[in-house]
Amino acid sequence: MILGIESSCDETSAAVYHPQRGMLSNVIASQQVHERFGGVVPELASRAHHTHISHVVEQALSEAGITKRELSGIAVANGPGLMGALLVGMSFAKGLHMQLGIPLVGVNHLDAHIYANFIESTPEYPFVALIVSGGHTRLLLVRGFMDHELLGETRDDAAGEAFDKTGKLLGLPYPAGPVMDKLSQGKNPRFVNFPKSFLNEGYEFSFSGLKTAVLYHLQAVPEADRPAYIEANLGDLCAAISEAITTVLVTKTMRAVKDTGVSTVVLAGGVSANSMLRSKFILSRSPERSEGAAKELQIHIPRPIYCTDNGAMIAVTGSMMLEAGRSDGLELKAFATGS
Ligand code: KG4
Ligand code: ZN
Repeated sequence: MILGIESSCDETSAAVYHPQRGMLSNVIASQQVHERFGGVVPELASRAHHTHISHVVEQALSEAGITKRELSGIAVANGPGLMGALLVGMSFAKGLHMQLGIPLVGVNHLDAHIYANFIESTPEYPFVALIVSGGHTRLLLVRGFMDHELLGETRDDAAGEAFDKTGKLLGLPYPAGPVMDKLSQGKNPRFVNFPKSFLNEGYEFSFSGLKTAVLYHLQAVPEADRPAYIEANLGDLCAAISEAITTVLVTKTMRAVKDTGVSTVVLAGGVSANSMLRSKFILSRSPERSEGAAKELQIHIPRPIYCTDNGAMIAVTGSMMLEAGRSDGLELKAFATGS
């Protein structure tokens, strides 16, 4: 029974995973304090993690119906993320490790997003993984467990950031991604043709041009009329922005599928909860649409609760790492960037 602890950004989360019985609990405390600042304030995030961590872990144990003495290992996200935030989860995990005398393993937050797909299904290697979160946008070829080749990543903003920043221009609260997803339902994705950077080449992404294009589009409306224009067309604007972001993500992932010849795609990270992205991937499964792939593509997308930050993904990845013979001790260090 593995306890997973996640505190890399603005979610304090803990989960208990059993390799045979599955995920026994997954408790997530989301921090509201950042909303009025329009983004995560690192110091406030650390303090909120500190306030919540012991309750969240206790609740995860009680929902799983176990005591901490029944745990056989502890997994904790040790980066990338906000240094102060990571240290709260790591100190807590190290304390438990010392107290209980059970193995501790540090889990890379981005790897955990990928292996969240193993909570409720079993993707076959090799596969192409698209990680789309608030801080990262990466395409990888995954040959086996923890055997990753980076195919391409964003040169500037991440996909989640593109949602959050364009949403902010529309006056939406942080994080705007989930709100824009809801507002886009049934709206016109062709309302404005926003730029899709590097659509026809390679695996690199760029979303900063989209942000500028949305800004210019709004500035073209006389200032006095702008609030009314946004209000009247909010859903269509969100749909058009979502269309630009998701088209690029799907096109590049399908290019990687074609070039590598794999038949499985795995989506990961908060933006993979996006309904337009999910349905575009489901539609691109058929051989006709996946440009000559030999058989129907297998698309794995975690349930939305396992897409955004959660302790469950840390627990499942940690469990797989421990099984592969990997563990850390008190010397485990947090890292803010890189991988
Ligand atoms: O993976 P995640 O929870 O945290 C990071 O590791 O960054 O991703 C958070 C990002 C935010 O930018 C948020 O706006 C976006 O994921 N997001 C969404 C949706 N749900 C979360 N973006 C679009 N549609 C959604 N449904
Ligand atoms: Zn994340």
